[in-house]
Amino acid sequence: MVTEVLSILNPTSGKRIIDATFGGGGHTTAILESSGCYVLGIDRDPDAIDRAATLKASYPNNFDFLAGEFSRLPDLIGTMERFDGILFDFGISSFQVDDPDRGFSFSHDGKLDMRMSKRGLSAFDVINSFEEKDLAEIIWKYGDEPKSRRIAAEIVRARKISQITTTFDLHMVVRNIFNSDSVKKKYSKIDVATKTFQAIRIFVNDELLEIDTALGQFPRLLKNDARIATISFHALEDRIVKNWIKSNSASIKIINKSVIKPSHEEIKKNPRSRSAVLRGFVYNESKAYTGEVDDAL
Ligand SMILES: C[S@@+](CC[C@H](N)C(=O)[O-])C[C@H]1O[C@@H](n2cnc3c(N)ncnc32)[C@H](O)[C@@H]1O
Repeated sequence: MVTEVLSILNPTSGKRIIDATFGGGGHTTAILESSGCYVLGIDRDPDAIDRAATLKASYPNNFDFLAGEFSRLPDLIGTMERFDGILFDFGISSFQVDDPDRGFSFSHDGKLDMRMSKRGLSAFDVINSFEEKDLAEIIWKYGDEPKSRRIAAEIVRARKISQITTTFDLHMVVRNIFNSDSVKKKYSKIDVATKTFQAIRIFVNDELLEIDTALGQFPRLLKNDARIATISFHALEDRIVKNWIKSNSASIKIINKSVIKPSHEEIKKNPRSRSAVLRGFVYNESKAYTGEVDDAL
């Protein structure tokens, strides 16, 4: 949804935009190509540093990159001038999903890891050391998985026999409890392990708190009437954005009355985009906007 993101951010010469989820730099590149504005790219994944360095060579004066969590944006930007816009494209990048060494996906066999920042507790640690009730809660809370308790019990049973080391190991453990045809039918559109993998990933990266914290910091980052674009990939992310909009409704003007979803062509080209939801709004902490909020929520 690059065109739609550009129409929300409206980058023009001299404007300063934060791309808080730089990833492969696709959105940043489009913003830089569309105008003479300045972009600060942020990503917690150290693998993004090299990709950013390549882009910096093409845009030495208009682009910088800082590695770190977007929850720490005020610290990261320090005394820099405030920004005119910010983009969040939540979740993980295809670089992360497609690299077996990052251990995010059951489509590739790799050591269970899932840490975007390559630091801290990994999926391996969680799966092999957390108590059954805590695993069940994580899988329920972040995966909305109705079979969370049975999956947690199966994980604990399996790890007593041998450690669950790889993405394929975890996939197999989850599949073990989905062996009846009626259960498989209910999950026909997605792999039976999708929700469990999502839940563990969200927990490992503390993704929801990251989003909530970042949205609460706009007054320290943005100029008046700054433009904000958020792309969520599941309801948990989008709910945080919606709640934030509701509780700050006096300071927000919704740009698009309805959420924007990817076109059929985009979904065909990039099937992972199918659940993406784009929201755009203007934020001004000191101005009282009226109306225009509820339609899009
Ligand atoms: C969906 S990808 C972004 C793709 C990017 N828009 C592009 O065009 O290539 C999300 C990126 O955000 C990063 N990310 C996720 N949560 C983050 C956080 N809390 N702080 C900083 N970066 C984060 C991930 O490491 C990943 O690279």
